[in-house]
Amino acid sequence: MSPKSQRVLVTGGAGYIGSHTLPELMMAGHEVHVIDDLSNGHGVALERCRQIVGRDFGFSEADIRDAARVSEVIRAFGPDVVIHFAGLKSPSESIEKPDLYREVNVIGSLRLLDAMRAGGCQRLVFSSSAAVYGPPDFLPISEDHPRRPTTPYGASKAEVEDILVQEAAKDTTLTCAILRYFNPVGAHASGLIGEHPQDIPTNLVPYIVDVARGRLPRLNVFGDDYGTPDGTGVRDYIHVTDLARAHVAALDWTAGATGAREFNLGAGEGTSVRDLIRTFETATGRDIPFVVAPRRPGDVASSYADPGRAERELKWKAELTLTDMCRSAWAWGARNPEGYA
Ligand code: NAD
Ligand code: WQD
Repeated sequence: MSPKSQRVLVTGGAGYIGSHTLPELMMAGHEVHVIDDLSNGHGVALERCRQIVGRDFGFSEADIRDAARVSEVIRAFGPDVVIHFAGLKSPSESIEKPDLYREVNVIGSLRLLDAMRAGGCQRLVFSSSAAVYGPPDFLPISEDHPRRPTTPYGASKAEVEDILVQEAAKDTTLTCAILRYFNPVGAHASGLIGEHPQDIPTNLVPYIVDVARGRLPRLNVFGDDYGTPDGTGVRDYIHVTDLARAHVAALDWTAGATGAREFNLGAGEGTSVRDLIRTFETATGRDIPFVVAPRRPGDVASSYADPGRAERELKWKAELTLTDMCRSAWAWGARNPEGYA
């Protein structure tokens, strides 16, 4: 339980992770207000969050780069803390549009930070990514692992992290929880919210869901000759509901801490592509035909977190299983074949 009810401004709350965080925040007793430009988020997701919790909350359709508009929302809502999900998230798209990624992710975050501080809000929870690490030197990856992002997306997250660390060093009233997510998957237990499918998904779990419902014929397993136990890529999958709960814990942490601190958010366990296929098949009773395809350029063999710092300092750890992730992803996918459309 949170120490007391807080006013929480959630940027990007209509997106995948943001929408799963809203019910957790409200169930912990917090008041929320969402800012989202709906460029990749969905008004229906917000409606469904209201339905899940049985409570209303405010929403402003706005771009985080619009300083005047964001300041106005902050003045009106008066947040105690901001959770900043809004941003662009595709590593491959960022290679084609590096300027756009810098503009939205870095400049957008800077404008938001300015508006927060001008409005008297000094606590921030920021969505970073394991993409800041690049190819791992050692496993599991701890927060002091060197950061060598390999895409403009990862670089944009690393740049925001640097700004937050520098600003918090200069201003001791500023507190920032920098959350580095590994591989968020799955959907809400209600089956009402989940990850909205792109045309053809690029991420593994949404792709598997599309194979399970017959929209795609088979999964391409990108490489089975890595130096991993079964040769396929190993990742740290984390249930989006566990991830959402970590934000409630991080918000509590910002109430009692100072400075900027990085936290890995993962289950701390490596799962291979073959493990995931098998677990999905057992959990859902669907067959997932696959073929082995060439390695995907830029992929690493293994990446998984040491989530010990989050457990010690945020008092949070992932609790849901890979089976829960597969079952919930399938329940959402089967019930909402067109996502929110
Ligand atoms: P998402 O695209 O589903 O959600 C992002 C939301 O931000 C969307 O609703 C979108 O409309 C909104 N948005 C984008 N640009 C905006 C702008 N300029 N102004 C206002 N709103 C804007 O993505 P997600 O998967 O929920 O990711 C949330 C955050 O977590 C992102 O910052 C992402 O980089 C980070 N992250 C995601 C993953 C992942 O695998 N999903 C992994 C690591 C980190
Ligand atoms: C997982 C594994 C693939 C698709 C990405 C971003 C990262 C972060 C999370 C934002 C790998 C294999 C995949 C397929 C496959 N996002 N795979 N066939 O690449 O670990 O991380 O999402 O911050 O920045 O890069 O996730 O789900 O794409 O891949 O075999 O059709 O599944 O090779 O081993 P990834 P993923």
